[in-house]
Amino acid sequence: MAHTDGYTAFVSSTAGRKIATTLGLPQPVALRRHVAGRPLADGPVLVGGHADTPALTALRDGLTAAGADVVEEVPAEQRLGGVVVDLTAADGPTDLESLRATLAPALKRLGRCARVVVVGRDPALATSPAQRAARRALEGATRSVAKELRAGATANLVLVADGAEAGALGTVTFLLSARSAYVDGQVVRVGAAPGTSGAPEAPADPERPLAGRVAVVTGAARGIGADIARTLGRDGATVVCVDIPAAGAHLAAVANEVGGTALQVDVTADDAGRRILEHARSRHGGLDVVVHNAGITRDKLLVNMDAERWAGVLDVNLGSILRMNEALLADDGLREGGRVVLVSSIAGIAGNRGQTNYAASKAGVIGLVDAYGADDALRDRGITVNAVAPGFIETEMTAKVPLATRELGRRLNSLNQGGLPVDVAEAIAYFAAPAQGAVSGNVVRVCGQSLLGA
Ligand SMILES: NC(=O)c1ccc[n+]([C@@H]2O[C@H](COP(=O)([O-])OP(=O)(O)OC[C@H]3O[C@@H](n4cnc5c(N)ncnc54)[C@H](O)[C@@H]3O)[C@@H](O)[C@H]2O)c1
Repeated sequence: MAHTDGYTAFVSSTAGRKIATTLGLPQPVALRRHVAGRPLADGPVLVGGHADTPALTALRDGLTAAGADVVEEVPAEQRLGGVVVDLTAADGPTDLESLRATLAPALKRLGRCARVVVVGRDPALATSPAQRAARRALEGATRSVAKELRAGATANLVLVADGAEAGALGTVTFLLSARSAYVDGQVVRVGAAPGTSGAPEAPADPERPLAGRVAVVTGAARGIGADIARTLGRDGATVVCVDIPAAGAHLAAVANEVGGTALQVDVTADDAGRRILEHARSRHGGLDVVVHNAGITRDKLLVNMDAERWAGVLDVNLGSILRMNEALLADDGLREGGRVVLVSSIAGIAGNRGQTNYAASKAGVIGLVDAYGADDALRDRGITVNAVAPGFIETEMTAKVPLATRELGRRLNSLNQGGLPVDVAEAIAYFAAPAQGAVSGNVVRVCGQSLLGA
């Protein structure tokens, strides 16, 4: 459920905007979000970079094929919908001038909610200190650009492995699109997918990239989970909605709405993974996508934390995922090309007062992504594992946070507003798509570039 942010509504009015300008207050704009049939970007997309590279060619061709109006110069009249800068050939600090030379004139001509996407190579794979420095420099530059942008615009960095240029297109497209509204200041790594050298097959219907796929979403009865189910359903997946029996009525309503099925299971039950798998098989023929979203908080300062609160949070948010994955990732579990998406939190990155148990569980989720993302057996089956780490998202949970803390959470990020559950869901749908076979082991924050843990 989307909760209204009164301040954003206020500064969107003429009088409110004048007052905010006079007082130097933050001026959040209503973010551009996905609407079926709308073009990839609102305006031409400038694609430039340092030297002619395979990445540059793949980007120009691929984005044109995806319907973008790709240009090589800043247009005199129109506002840009996005800028993509290819720095994959940056071998030393002086090569970074190409980043400045491409971006500086383009930033003056950016439209509302425009996108900057920088494309580079992974510093860890560099062959000289100068090259590694130049590659790492892109992260500092991109995060700074994200902080300089206004009016709902975002900047993100994509690090592409050698030979994975075509596989990176889905990631660049997501970051250019309205689906990434609240993803800002992030770094996404795209590896080389096993057994694929060319571009991943484009979906028959770009509006339904998950057509024919069966997905399970835990904690789907409300909040972020309900929007994940809706978004995966919108993208064409058949969705199994899982939640505890006490949430049964809401669960049934969400399952009906998305044309999927409801399964009442407590994720901490020993046989939860097996039951989910059996349900997906018997009702829908198999399982392709698992979204581990169910989560709880039981906040207390550590000095007052009892063993029950500690263990409860760690088991629902972390232990249950390990147990369920034993069944879900077994050889007879997820089908080939499967997708696992976990839900972490910026509390698991930055830490949060009163949330040692929760932060431990959500940091542990990142550990799981590191482990599964490096698992060769999963890779050979084409299974990817990634996580989203939401920042301040407008939900029933955050609506109960005291006003001052809530306002801080909303404003202490580059977009000066909280995200919506659908923003988290869109990032999950991106990870879940068949085209993202080369994207594994990533943790992408959906936090509007929150200052926490940055
Ligand atoms: N709301 C935020 O700002 C925010 C920020 C960061 C991370 N998250 C994470 O996003 C996820 C969803 O959060 P939300 O805000 O929608 O929470 P929510 O409390 O609104 O919904 C969580 C759902 O999980 C279900 N659930 C809880 N325990 C379960 C169990 N043992 N078995 C099956 N289902 C169970 C609940 O019944 C509920 O429907 C959680 O993992 C949460 O930690 C939320």
